[in-house]
Amino acid sequence: MSTYSHIIGTGSAAPERVVTNRDLEQIVDTSDDWIVRRTGIRERRISSLERPENTAEMATKAAREALEAAGMEPDELDMIVVGTVTPDRQFPATGCMVQTALGAGRAAAFDISAGCSGFLYALNTVHNAVRCGAAGKALVIGVERLSSVLNWEDRGTCVLLGDGAGAVVVSAGSDNGGILSTHIRSDGQFWDLLYAYYGENHIPDSLDHLDAKPFKLRMEGNRLFKRAIGCLTEIAVEALEHNGMTSRDIKLVVPHQANIRIIQGMIRNLGIPMEQVYTNVDRFGNTSSASIPIALNEARREGLLTPGDHVLLVSFGAGLTWASAVIRWSMEAVLSEAEDAVGCAINQAPAAIFPGP
Ligand code: UT7
Repeated sequence: MSTYSHIIGTGSAAPERVVTNRDLEQIVDTSDDWIVRRTGIRERRISSLERPENTAEMATKAAREALEAAGMEPDELDMIVVGTVTPDRQFPATGCMVQTALGAGRAAAFDISAGCSGFLYALNTVHNAVRCGAAGKALVIGVERLSSVLNWEDRGTCVLLGDGAGAVVVSAGSDNGGILSTHIRSDGQFWDLLYAYYGENHIPDSLDHLDAKPFKLRMEGNRLFKRAIGCLTEIAVEALEHNGMTSRDIKLVVPHQANIRIIQGMIRNLGIPMEQVYTNVDRFGNTSSASIPIALNEARREGLLTPGDHVLLVSFGAGLTWASAVIRWSMEAVLSEAEDAVGCAINQAPAAIFPGP
């Protein structure tokens, strides 16, 4: 008998602090008009050290919400896979910190670094582990604290990125459906279009540098932009063909939220109307690995997904990496009483103060 992998819970979390485009006008030479026209972003969430909002803490909060939605206890988990490029520490893995915070003592936990495709790479790993019997129940998390690696003097990048976390619970099941396919791709020859650097070297040159923030982010946005639309279109078409589908079979596209113009370009190529695309880039900016699971969780909680719907997930990011997943949705549309009571963590009233990064 075949084993299928089903998403049975989703959750997300984001920092309280909202940073608007107007706030950023105060620290770099930019404007709300430029940011909205070129990216679609109006605000983003930025974590604070004064609250439990570091990478592992956001990931744990999203994971708890996903487990709650699944009606599952942490000790039932066999695996925790975290996609992130902004762990709190170089090692150990964020996954291990989440494991102990949750009390998921049986789970094998580790991280995947695949730029903005981290969540879909992690989903791919778990999907294959479930299908071959290596795991029965697993958490897949995408989490970023990009504010910790941003250069707040670079208007070309600091206006784009934000912090947050999203999670899904994947479970083995005998019902046909669930995750139908995952595809992952990389092209390392363009790694230098988007990376974190420490000065010109990877180790401090002198003791003076030891106090400096270790990593800053550098991006060639325009060259990335051109590749993004092509790669996203290519992997979406590959995913549809693999499943014998056309774009008409897709109920909802949940793409990586980097820039509304990238999403529109891909969607135009696929011939899918924008009404069938979930976007929240206006409220979160680009949260890298976290963007797809946050959007998926919002879409589910807004009642946009019912069992049997086909959902297409697509991502593109640093590496370069790009990835896709096609899901025949199998989770009930109705929120459980517990979920209703807790509400969606990311929709709680935010504190709109910007004391600076
Ligand atoms: O998450 C996956 C990886 N990331 C991406 O895929 C991001 C892909 N790239 C993009 O989304 C876009 O390229 C950006 C939003 C980063 C930039 O938009 P663009 O339309 O490609 O602008 P550009 O880089 O070609 O810059 C156009 C102008 C430049 O001025 P000049 O040289 O024409 O005078 C920039 O200096 O806009 C200027 N500019 C800004 N102006 C106001 C760049 N950043 C800003 C800013 N505010 N924040």
